[in-house]
Amino acid sequence: MAPAPSDLLALAVRLAEAAGDLLVDQRPDRLQIGTKTTPTDVVTEMDRAAERLVLDGIRAERPGDAVLAEESGGEAGGSGVRWVVDPIDGTVNYLYGIPDFAVSIAAEVDGQVVAGAVRDPSKRLTYTAVAGAGAACNGTPLRCSAVTDLAQALVATGFGYAAARRAKQSRVLTSVLPAVRDIRRIGAAALDLCAVAAGRVDAFYERGLSPWDLAAGGLVAREAGARVEGLHGRGAGADLVLAAPPALFAPLHDLLAAAAADSD
Ligand code: IPD
Ligand code: CA
Repeated sequence: MAPAPSDLLALAVRLAEAAGDLLVDQRPDRLQIGTKTTPTDVVTEMDRAAERLVLDGIRAERPGDAVLAEESGGEAGGSGVRWVVDPIDGTVNYLYGIPDFAVSIAAEVDGQVVAGAVRDPSKRLTYTAVAGAGAACNGTPLRCSAVTDLAQALVATGFGYAAARRAKQSRVLTSVLPAVRDIRRIGAAALDLCAVAAGRVDAFYERGLSPWDLAAGGLVAREAGARVEGLHGRGAGADLVLAAPPALFAPLHDLLAAAAADSD
């Protein structure tokens, strides 16, 4: 029998909060860093320590589940549940001591995200969502913004680590920036999606995100009333993640689709 999403959420919250405490309490003065896809795509020993804490917790409580984790990759399971884990979303912020980073943990059942927790340990905020049951921050229900005019919208975005992708992203930005109130680049996609959920920004878009950047925060944004999709009716994914209130979705989507076509 499939586990109750609320039970999966409780485990996600417990582990995200414990990993967040570890990141804050045990952050060394000098972080040991390595690089991944490019010289600017970094991993620290704290990414690995936080991921170990989360995966050990999952294995202890739910040994039959599959896992997809940013630093250690995938592990199969037979239960129909898969955990999608980013131990630090916003690693560059963490490296520089900028307090905008998060631990992101989502639970999928049969390929669908049913529960997600995003812990912002610096602000002691835990964003949560269960599919069909709404989103909350520290237990207070969340609702995305009601802005309907793109010209009045504060839009968050992010950039990948590869130079070629960044060149395209900067070309897209030249179309978006004149059309909106302003742009924000917070540096942690999971927190961008939670900011949409909380109405602290009106919308968020980014190309090239990985499942762990998106899984938990995407559910939080959706459950707070945002549309979270990709290009041309496709699901949100590496191609595009666009999270926006329903009235803003179509104009922003069309602007991004046109800008993406022009930037290729
Ligand atoms: C990154 C952050 C950033 C986004 C990048 C992601 P990481 O995740 O979410 O805001 O723009 O595309 O890769 O590397 O800090 O886990
Ligand atoms: Ca990460």
